Amino acid sequence: MPLGPDALILGIETSCDETAAALVAGATNVLSSVVSSQVELHAQYGGVVPEIASRAHNQLIIPVTARAMVEAGIDERNMTAVAATTGPGLIGALLVGVSAAKALALTWGVPFVAVNHLEAHLYAAFLEEPELQFPLVVLLVSGGHTMLISMEDYGRYRLLGQTLDDAAGEAFDKVARFLGLGYPGGPAIDRVAMQGDPQAINFPRAMLNDGLDFSFSGLKTSVINHVRKNPSVSTPDVAASFQAAVVDVLVTKARRAARDVGATALALGGGVAANSLLREQFLTACTEDGIGGFLPSRSMCTDNAAMIAAAGWHRLRLDGPSPLDVGADPNMKLATIA
Ligand code: KG4
Ligand code: ZN
Repeated sequence: MPLGPDALILGIETSCDETAAALVAGATNVLSSVVSSQVELHAQYGGVVPEIASRAHNQLIIPVTARAMVEAGIDERNMTAVAATTGPGLIGALLVGVSAAKALALTWGVPFVAVNHLEAHLYAAFLEEPELQFPLVVLLVSGGHTMLISMEDYGRYRLLGQTLDDAAGEAFDKVARFLGLGYPGGPAIDRVAMQGDPQAINFPRAMLNDGLDFSFSGLKTSVINHVRKNPSVSTPDVAASFQAAVVDVLVTKARRAARDVGATALALGGGVAANSLLREQFLTACTEDGIGGFLPSRSMCTDNAAMIAAAGWHRLRLDGPSPLDVGADPNMKLATIA
């Protein structure tokens, strides 16, 4: 479908515990991006409670969407399409955003566009750097996924490596929980690690010299065993040493992937891309290797709807509108080429 740079997309994201709506013109011009986090609702349980997330999305989806429209100064007459995350994610949470997006699209007489949440994370870097060149290697590190992807064009992705067990964000969350640092774990470890010594404990770097896949579950076990054997160990030292091990593996493999595919640039995406040490070491590595390094701002790394609208623009251009009977798929995969 021919789509102009002014085509206006309303993006809606409700796959986990953020209710988000954004207005993006073309694929990159963010007019508004509203994110309402449910962190406080879930914190007392130490993780996201799916039923509570669905109920909160239900209450928030209309006010959040209305605010995105008001902040952008847009009314429905200007809308080109409504895009929503249809997976992967929590089924009840996804259904709230998908139903709202379909209802709005139907009411306004514009196309509905189904968006894969993982594909949307890939586009976060483009929101701030629209001129990124292909092939671009993206390290996608979120709560549920750890993937190295070569973007060969819009909509053409090659999977270079992925985690064989825990995702990087999951490892942060589980270790933080074990250390009593609360939920969400990633930002907590990031903060506490600033007071610790990253060389205090030499935690294992699994599969460091071995291909482009990852494994983090042994590292998590190693942290737990170390603390059990050394109960008086400093928590900041454990957090800093754990974080250093994760970042070391992520950065080593990302630069190897860029070398393998001859990419001129590397980008980060997903919630763990908000991590301070990862951001610093990632940029240092890119400078050393003489390639471009692109870090979306922290608010674009974690779940947001601007990236959903951006991916929606590309999906609409490549595939046209999605049928209104398309469902939500909690286990949706990223479509990759062989
Ligand atoms: O992409 P995202 O917001 O949601 C998913 O699609 O999963 O990622 C959430 C993950 C969580 O595991 C969270 O702990 C982690 O990103 N995270 C971080 C940081 N901020 C968020 N991990 C490490 N350091 C951070 N600063
Ligand atoms: Zn995400």
